[in-house]
Amino acid sequence: MESQSERPWRIVVGVTGGIAAYKAVSVIRSLVLLGHRVDVIATEHALRFVGRPTLEAISRNPLRTDLYENVATVQHVALGQQADVVVIAPATANTLAKIANGIADDLLLNTVLASRAPLVVAPAMHTEMWQHPATQANARRLDERGVTIVGPDSGRLTGTDEGPGRMSEPEDIVAAVLATARAGARDREERLRGRDLEGRHVLVTAGGTREPIDPVRFLGNRSSGRQGVAVATRAAARGAEVTLVAANIEVPEPDGVNVVRVSSAEQMATACLELAPRQDVIIMAAAVADFRPEHVLDGKIKKEQTGDALTLTFTKNPDILRSLVLARVPDQTIVGFAAETEEDDDARLELARAKRERKGCDFLVLNRVGWNEGFQREDTEVQIIDERGEVVAESTGEKLSVADAILDVVARER
Ligand code: CTP
Repeated sequence: MESQSERPWRIVVGVTGGIAAYKAVSVIRSLVLLGHRVDVIATEHALRFVGRPTLEAISRNPLRTDLYENVATVQHVALGQQADVVVIAPATANTLAKIANGIADDLLLNTVLASRAPLVVAPAMHTEMWQHPATQANARRLDERGVTIVGPDSGRLTGTDEGPGRMSEPEDIVAAVLATARAGARDREERLRGRDLEGRHVLVTAGGTREPIDPVRFLGNRSSGRQGVAVATRAAARGAEVTLVAANIEVPEPDGVNVVRVSSAEQMATACLELAPRQDVIIMAAAVADFRPEHVLDGKIKKEQTGDALTLTFTKNPDILRSLVLARVPDQTIVGFAAETEEDDDARLELARAKRERKGCDFLVLNRVGWNEGFQREDTEVQIIDERGEVVAESTGEKLSVADAILDVVARER
């Protein structure tokens, strides 16, 4: 299920003439129920399979079919220009062929040609048509051009036959449309933003430290490293020279980033303090254990030795963020994170303000965590507070776009 907080997209849904047009109704309905604005363009042939009243009622917007309707508003250009994403479901072999060749002989094809929005197509046709070299060549061309092709699935077709050619299920199409809209928005923002961190040295920490107890056990936390890795990924895409100090991350290392692997808080502290003097920006996204076992045992702790209870003594770890702030070089921007479980919004903000002051960093990124929030997830919700304790930015959504929001604040400051 998509998060409710996903930004509402403007989506053009093109419906072409195939029996799977009835399934397009579910695609439109899901998108509308998720809060997106949907304009439907159906071809004449599509209207033989599904009726105008259905498409209008479900999309909650007038249906468009005719290139020569509303000519004064130049709708074939307007719809395409305003769209965040265009999806054609079902897309017939004929439609794929026309798009691949830039043919524009109806309103839908004109809209596709007049749009810079990313395009998603969900082909639906008989197996022979899908496997025909002409269709395969057209699909390849579209793929090379960056069009997202969803399916077709293999399964029962209109008659008794089976094979590849069946339109993908509506939920898969909806997921592809939303993912494409998000990626398209990121591309647009990236073009606007450019490489605003070009040449900057950025140090990011990610993951959760593990504090050894004995050779086989450690004390750890639930941080997967997703947010820190997302910050490193976006900083590199924006031109920065990024070093990622990664503690036990569960996600792949980003490309184009210098990665230093560590495990415990002490190792992270050593790596960060060594790298810090050369950095313009330091972003401490890692979850660092505050304590470590006082004695690390050489051999595995055995039940016979401990009896029914085990007591461990812990000693305090270095506060890396605080140490970095104390060792700060001129013009260095330092960002800390705070993951708090406090449910009340104001109380959580107060905790964050106090923490920012204690740590002395320039900004603190606050997010709420709990048993089911924050960890191991692709999306998140943060507030960024500055030295005066004011919320200077808020961001909700995929960790990559939250990463951009954090970097925007840093870039603005610099
Ligand atoms: N941090 C750090 N070194 C530590 C603990 C935390 O550098 N030993 C950093 C984290 O990477 C994060 C920020 O400090 O950027 C806040 O972490 P948090 O664990 O919330 O801070 P604590 O000072 O440990 O506060 P609390 O008592 O709430 O755990």
